[in-house]
Amino acid sequence: MRRLLIAGNWKMHKSVDESVELAGILKSSLIDIVELDILICPTYTALHPVANILKGSNIALGAQNMHQEDSGAFTGEISADMLISAGASHVILGHSERRHVFGETDQTISLKLKKALDKGLTPVFCIGELLEERESGKMDQVLIRQLSSAYEGLTKAQALKTIVAYEPVWAIGTGVTATPDQAQSAHAFVRNWFRKTFDVDLAERIRILYGGSVKPGNIADLEEKPDVDGGLIGGASLKADSFTQIIENAIKKEV
Ligand code: PGA
Repeated sequence: MRRLLIAGNWKMHKSVDESVELAGILKSSLIDIVELDILICPTYTALHPVANILKGSNIALGAQNMHQEDSGAFTGEISADMLISAGASHVILGHSERRHVFGETDQTISLKLKKALDKGLTPVFCIGELLEERESGKMDQVLIRQLSSAYEGLTKAQALKTIVAYEPVWAIGTGVTATPDQAQSAHAFVRNWFRKTFDVDLAERIRILYGGSVKPGNIADLEEKPDVDGGLIGGASLKADSFTQIIENAIKKEV
């Protein structure tokens, strides 16, 4: 039985004070939640102060990206060790904004994934197709390319430490959510890829989150689908009430 995970990706929003304030509210309002896992991913500058606030809570802390090297002359970049020293246990990798706005390639993302695993960070590895790729029937091909590149050379034990997020690019920040059936069919496709590439046991255990315009009003129908194991939430994770409501609605569907 896979445990649901609801993750908030705060993207480039909130000052340190605002991040600490939101994390503090979430800590107290979600303290009794035991039915699912919760993760928040603030900006780099807020990681350490938010880690301090989250001590003793049931909320895990993640970063939104990292560099694949340990250290060096990489102005403006941040390493896995730095994230860990700031208190992060998770890192989002391959988000569509990294791929499409900042030009990250499958190859770079694959190096980042391996480095995160080597260092003991849990990667939330994002995949997803553009609208034109879906419309021209290339969705399967794109997902296979992104998955194959990232998991090539990983052992089953390593792959099991990753979390996948299927985020159709056309649904991110657009208000257009994939229908629960569209999400289910992509998730089943991804799970089947894991079954063929690794084995049934891994495919049954790996968590696949859905991301793209998730809101309190649509989470329950998405979660109801058998292969959807939680959500990666952007816009709706920026306010305590909508993020809390998403978690509560996801739980209602579980019981
Ligand atoms: P959104 O973002 O919920 O604002 O669509 C999701 C994401 O980019 O992870």
